[in-house]
Amino acid sequence: MKNPFQKIINLFHEKTESPLHITSRTGKLRAHDTADPDVARDIFKQRDAFRTPTFVKKAMGQFIGKALILDEDESWKYTHDLIADIFSRKGVSNSIAPVIVEECDTMIDDWLKNGDTPIDAERAMRGLTARAVLRVTFGKTVDEKEGEAIIDTATVALESFRKPSGLTLLSRIFGMPYDHVPRMKKEYADASKKMDSILDGIITRRRKLNQQPDDILGRLINAKDLETGGPLSDKKIKDQLVMFIVAGHETTAAALTFALDELLKNPEEIEKIRRETDGVTKGNNVKPDDFNNLPSACNAFKEALRLHPTAYEIGREALENTTAGGREFKKGDLVRIDIRKMHKSPDIWDEPESFKPARFEKSRFPLGYIPFGGGGRTCLGMTMALQEGTLTLAEIFNRVKLKAVRTLDGEEPAFTMRPKGKLEVIAAPRRKP
Ligand code: HEM
Repeated sequence: MKNPFQKIINLFHEKTESPLHITSRTGKLRAHDTADPDVARDIFKQRDAFRTPTFVKKAMGQFIGKALILDEDESWKYTHDLIADIFSRKGVSNSIAPVIVEECDTMIDDWLKNGDTPIDAERAMRGLTARAVLRVTFGKTVDEKEGEAIIDTATVALESFRKPSGLTLLSRIFGMPYDHVPRMKKEYADASKKMDSILDGIITRRRKLNQQPDDILGRLINAKDLETGGPLSDKKIKDQLVMFIVAGHETTAAALTFALDELLKNPEEIEKIRRETDGVTKGNNVKPDDFNNLPSACNAFKEALRLHPTAYEIGREALENTTAGGREFKKGDLVRIDIRKMHKSPDIWDEPESFKPARFEKSRFPLGYIPFGGGGRTCLGMTMALQEGTLTLAEIFNRVKLKAVRTLDGEEPAFTMRPKGKLEVIAAPRRKP
């Protein structure tokens, strides 16, 4: 239906459109909505010219201060380098993959005790990825109850972003690219208080140890605050912890849920994963160092992230006049890199709506595929997410026959891209015990 106020809106809103790039102007504010891979690549490359928009930093900063993902000062490099080797290929293979496989086998053992009672796949995947990220963050120094409280609280906090704000409505009327503006909500404030008190307890306990375990918290406790020269305050440590917990489980859990849903709708792809996994495991369980020999499971996970990029948009603001991908950007312009549109564009992909993991056989990261962002700010947890996705899918189809009693109704954009509806499965053993 045509907007009855369009004529009035047109007085101060202009739009120029090409298939992958829309530029709009409302009063003085110019905004770009881009799904053009060349533009995105050049924006990622020019770290001094494009930064996270100030309004995003202000809104998110209320929740996670200047945690790594929002930090654009010297301290970014310091914190990044302090943590990076935990998430390197070697770090993930040696320390994280064993946890993933162990947790996945425990989850499958529980599934097999469930009989014909349907399993909520998203809940199961969330539990799995949560336990993995808790282990990377706190080692073995939080118990199950504390871990559950942390994840439940983080989930409430994330859910509080779901409801649209007044700004959302305004941005929709004017066709502006930002329609998921996070803002402080009561649910978040309550969850945040609870999270604070749990993390305070853990930090106090850990500070008393003579030697810190080698996990994210241990490294943050031993780190230097570049602003004061002293150790990091509890507040700064908590901001980083909350960021890792949230960034490190929700997106991977949703991606795994989408992957299971797509695979159950494409049984020939499950058979392909099984043939490959059987060749590797010879009837045993998947081992942590099998990752490199399971490309079909990895490609299925990647393809699920193409169709359903769980981090579906990235915001940037131009700090100077510049060009990217042949387009002009002026100081102050806002950019939304629309990953979902890029990943589904018929200008980039053959049969973009079809689930075809074989696309990744020719190229590991084809042009137009950016689920983990790009450039210097590429997702720090990318290797962990890929190993988690691959090993989990391979082990599930290695050990169980899954029957879907209910499948997803698509996807739902919230703070991250969420599965819509529920995927419910019944699990039976694939081999006799
Ligand atoms: C499928 C799972 C995941 C997806 C789709 C994803 C996506 C992304 C994207 C798109 C960015 C870039 C944001 C920007 O440029 O503004 C990012 C950054 C980041 N991600 Fe992930 N992520 C995933 C899993 C993880 C995991 C498992 C962790 C850690 C446990 C993690 C930690 C981070 C961190 C710390 C950053 C900030 C990096 C920096 O600015 O230096 N992510 N992620």
